[in-house]
Amino acid sequence: MNDKLQEIREKVLLKLKDVKSLDDAKSIKVEYLGKKGALTEILRGLGSVAAEERPKIGKMVNEVRADLEEKLNTRLAELEKRKLADKLAKEKVDITMPGRKPQEGHLHPVILTLREMKKIFMRMGFEVEEGPEIENDYFNFEALNLPKDHPARDMQDTFYVTDEYLLRTQTSGVQARAMQSREPNTPIRMICPGTVYRNDYDATHSPMFHQVEGLVVDKNISLADLKGTLETFCKEMFGSSVKIRLRPSFFPFTEPSAEVDISCVMCGGKGCKVCKNSGWLEILGSGMVHPNVLKMSGYDPDKMSGFAFGMGVERIAMLKYGIDDLRLFFENDLRFIRQFK
Ligand code: DAH
Repeated sequence: MNDKLQEIREKVLLKLKDVKSLDDAKSIKVEYLGKKGALTEILRGLGSVAAEERPKIGKMVNEVRADLEEKLNTRLAELEKRKLADKLAKEKVDITMPGRKPQEGHLHPVILTLREMKKIFMRMGFEVEEGPEIENDYFNFEALNLPKDHPARDMQDTFYVTDEYLLRTQTSGVQARAMQSREPNTPIRMICPGTVYRNDYDATHSPMFHQVEGLVVDKNISLADLKGTLETFCKEMFGSSVKIRLRPSFFPFTEPSAEVDISCVMCGGKGCKVCKNSGWLEILGSGMVHPNVLKMSGYDPDKMSGFAFGMGVERIAMLKYGIDDLRLFFENDLRFIRQFK
């Protein structure tokens, strides 16, 4: 019995000397000290040993077992430590490596332009209001002096959600909304920036674009106020040397109406390809608010007067940055967009 024990002991010690991996050491432990291990088998076999021999042999087995267990555990601890050290060495972070920069976005040129426009008007005391993009026929057309059969509606075809609701073709409806949300005859000085929609698509038109609407109503507002306000805006936007001119025009919601031109930002008014040799560029529509429009929204045209204007944000951006195709704004070509960082 003793020989057998010593033999097992030697075998284990030998194996322990060679063992390289933690897993191998663990299986040695199972093989000899586990539930079905060689030493356990011997302990189980004690039943067949003569009764008076049993304590002596039992003691021997337990001593060998305790000795081997201690040596195995020491070895296991060593291997465990080495494994951790290897792992730490492999996973070491080199904090001197240059970092990866996250991709940084920036505002779209249309939004940049819109913000600049808003800032200029806010400095002049304008409030900013908003209206719904899905507008009803009443605010988009009727309240602006465009009854159902008015021919000027033809120029603003759009997507109708129902017979009554449509994707708004202009921000002008917010003029009526602004007046109707106030006590009658309350003075107003507001702009409404927003997205509008029309059935148009070419180098200067997109089915979705942006406008900034303006409305000023008070006592004694005159065409001079309109001209002074827009001249100030244009000089702030395009530089102090820019000139403006008003050309007679027609809009159903203003009377008189005027188209506003600025001196060509490319040639300074001398005449070039961009201004088609005229020296002028059209930038917005405007006029004195039509008495019918004031009346329909509860304002008294005998006491109050006002001016209004509407301009396309993309058009202003194109002139400011010298862009010749409006569709570039919406094609999502990053080579174009990134120039505005
Ligand atoms: N809503 C017009 C358009 O989309 C632009 C416009 C012209 C707005 C004259 C105005 C205005 O407020 O008075 O073509």
